[in-house]
Amino acid sequence: MVKAIVTRNRYQTELDHCEQARHNVTVMQQGVFCYREGQLCAGEVPLRDIANQTVTPFYVYSVDAVINRFQELEGELASTRHLTCVALKANYQPALIRPLKEMGAGVEVVSGGELSLALALGFAPEHIVFSGVGKSRWELEAGLAAKVRLFLVESAGELRLLESLCGRMSRRARVALRINPDIDPKTHRHMATGISTAKFGLDLDTAKRLYRCHRDFSHLDFVGIHSHIGSQITDIAPVMENATFLRELVVALSTEGVPILDIDVGGGLGIQYDKEETPSFKEYVKAIRVAISRENETLILEPGRALLGPVGALVVQVLYVKVLHGRLFAVVDAGMNDLLRPALYGAYHRIMPLADNDRPTVMLDVAGAACESSDIFARDRKLPHPKEGEFLAILDAGAYGYSMSSNYNLRPRPAEVTVQGRKYQLVRPAESPDGLVRRELLP
Ligand code: LLP
Repeated sequence: MVKAIVTRNRYQTELDHCEQARHNVTVMQQGVFCYREGQLCAGEVPLRDIANQTVTPFYVYSVDAVINRFQELEGELASTRHLTCVALKANYQPALIRPLKEMGAGVEVVSGGELSLALALGFAPEHIVFSGVGKSRWELEAGLAAKVRLFLVESAGELRLLESLCGRMSRRARVALRINPDIDPKTHRHMATGISTAKFGLDLDTAKRLYRCHRDFSHLDFVGIHSHIGSQITDIAPVMENATFLRELVVALSTEGVPILDIDVGGGLGIQYDKEETPSFKEYVKAIRVAISRENETLILEPGRALLGPVGALVVQVLYVKVLHGRLFAVVDAGMNDLLRPALYGAYHRIMPLADNDRPTVMLDVAGAACESSDIFARDRKLPHPKEGEFLAILDAGAYGYSMSSNYNLRPRPAEVTVQGRKYQLVRPAESPDGLVRRELLP
């Protein structure tokens, strides 16, 4: 089995080595995506082999790499009573999630759909936490029927609805209130969830008031507490601040007779897309561990991107190369419907040609195929001069890639392929245009 990435920093170093050695015959260092004998590979598999068999665009993921990342994170948590609930919203591909389950992971679900998938994958109810700012009645009912470990509740209304559904279904529910602690996670403003203007959670006063009247909710056990302050966090200070905030609140609640057992610090750890420095798993775990201190407490974490982001790429084909008002464009066959992050957040993703040859580099824009001006995967990027028909890989697309894809422009969603060892496998076929039309109730 390929020994894939061990830490983000090492991963970057390896990629740098790969880039430096791009023109060497063989590259010894192995990242998730790395050139070997001039071919970009996922582990040991040349992406060209997959691209020759699979219609582009397609997502490709390294199962070995996701396993290694999870093991590394779990290693840091070994001495801590904890439950790692993988955030399915980052990537719900069963071929990636099932191996994590087999290694003891739980899941964080945010909808009835994700809950159904978690159950279909065989997750034990005590390994499922159910979050979401707007859970519908049917979703709460589904969570109760499944007996999930914890409902992460974000409003007094949701608490009341849950209480009444419990009464009707003769169930009890374990709940954690999600607090909005007003901590700036120092990330993209669209990914800040624990600041005062965000829609998520409850403010501290309201939460304290609800915890104090926990006896009014005869079917609910107020055993948890939760705060998720944002995503793609690269500064450890707000992570530590959030953990400290939760710790202090747990202590205060315990003196008021509300013992808290499950302390859920959310997800949010960032990855290196460009040149940003990111905390290691070791630093991250050291910071979140502050949230717990008693033996009977369980630290719950909900990582998504940090586990899944670096293990995936979107492989696209260059359709057309053109010069427009002096700018060089490579127009590719994927669009913002396949990978939304650049259009939505101006997010940076590295792009690498599959075949590495000695072409001179040029400055160009890599444009998506959708009818939308913001559908640009890269602006002013230095790449080997593109050729029509060649394949490119858009890296670090394993989190919030496929899971945010859509049918905008009635474009079919792409295929998904996994690589493990020397083998690759189609794990989700691409949608077909006919299939999309068949879903319409034509008048
Ligand atoms: N827990 C909760 C309650 C969340 O809202 C999220 C992400 C996570 C855990 C996982 O966070 P992570 O470890 O992946 O940062 N679409 C954006 C990211 C949105 C994140 C939403 N919530 C992107 O493409 O960057």
